[in-house]
Amino acid sequence: MLSYGSLLTRLVHLLTRLVHLPTRLVHSLTRFEQQNAAHRPFNEKRLMAHLSVLKEEVIQAAPDHTQHILDCTLGGGGHSHALLQRFPQAELVAIDRDPMAMERAKTVLSQFLSQIRFLEGTFAERAAALQNEEIQFDYVLADIGVSSFQLDEPERGFSFRNDGPLDMRMTPDDAIPTAADWVNEKSEQELFKIFATYGEERFSRKIARKIVQSRQVTPFETTQQLADLIKETVPRKFHKPGYHPATQIFQALRIVVNQELEELKTLLDVSKDLLNSHGRIAIIAFHSLEDRLVKQSFKRWEHPCTCPPEWPRCMCGLQSWGKVITKRPLTPTEGEIQTNPRSRSAKLRIFEHCES
Ligand SMILES: C[S@@+](CC[C@H](N)C(=O)[O-])C[C@H]1O[C@@H](n2cnc3c(N)ncnc32)[C@H](O)[C@@H]1O
Repeated sequence: MLSYGSLLTRLVHLLTRLVHLPTRLVHSLTRFEQQNAAHRPFNEKRLMAHLSVLKEEVIQAAPDHTQHILDCTLGGGGHSHALLQRFPQAELVAIDRDPMAMERAKTVLSQFLSQIRFLEGTFAERAAALQNEEIQFDYVLADIGVSSFQLDEPERGFSFRNDGPLDMRMTPDDAIPTAADWVNEKSEQELFKIFATYGEERFSRKIARKIVQSRQVTPFETTQQLADLIKETVPRKFHKPGYHPATQIFQALRIVVNQELEELKTLLDVSKDLLNSHGRIAIIAFHSLEDRLVKQSFKRWEHPCTCPPEWPRCMCGLQSWGKVITKRPLTPTEGEIQTNPRSRSAKLRIFEHCES
């Protein structure tokens, strides 16, 4: 027998779900629309919306006589386009996990299509497959993160400024849990850990607690719902001008939804096999967790020896396979930041394979 109290709770829950039914329907339709968006006609305004970060620096970092290029993050195709203009005879392999990005980029790169092999998928899986094919490159580029197309399209669910389904998957694949799945299903402790580790958010514990309380009444379905809750939870005196209080939490969710750090680790693991002798890898990172991974890997590749420095000679047998070209990361100029504020946190690091 159900008690009067639990009957009442069930009734309230049922009513809440009924009230949110129209929103759910709209978002299911939006998701359907998103999955079919790759077949939509192009919108010129959208094609112009992504500005490639550190473009000049990326071009200059490419070795002279570059013939084989791997662009791990095709995005809007801006870097690939500039590289093919600089090396008109080169062949380029272009990877992106987002089919919509790939379709758009094909339009941007229409004059070079015969020189490009497009590979849809994550760069971790695709780079590992290229390693098995024993294909090597003079220049490997990874401009990690999301593109402005993804950020600015509300239906992709990355944006706390525009309302949309709380999605954040770069690959629109039903098998991948969305940000809403993470937020509605993980325990308070798990959410706290995600926010603290990947968002480095000071109010992680408080936000995780509020989310768990709030989802008992209404599950999270939209970006606005979550952004508003975070804004209410972070004390006003900690709101920074020009910076939405939800920025760090959205970053953390994006990282876990897309397994961004695991992706980067796999790419770094196979990099050596992907580079020709004197080939270079250039990686642009947008947050400290990624940049730290890149910096530490490059340093280890240059100085892998683990023997105590007082030993007369190396006994570990680990040998350097190249050198770090950027002792300090290259960052955007003030001018670039003014034109493209999203470039603000970009850091470009370059490593050269110089094993004999
Ligand atoms: C910052 S944008 C790249 C912009 C590009 N360099 C340009 O100049 O237009 C990042 C792109 O990489 C893709 N991406 C991010 N992580 C990825 C991964 N692990 N595997 C494949 N593509 C990824 C995203 O879908 C997005 O389109």
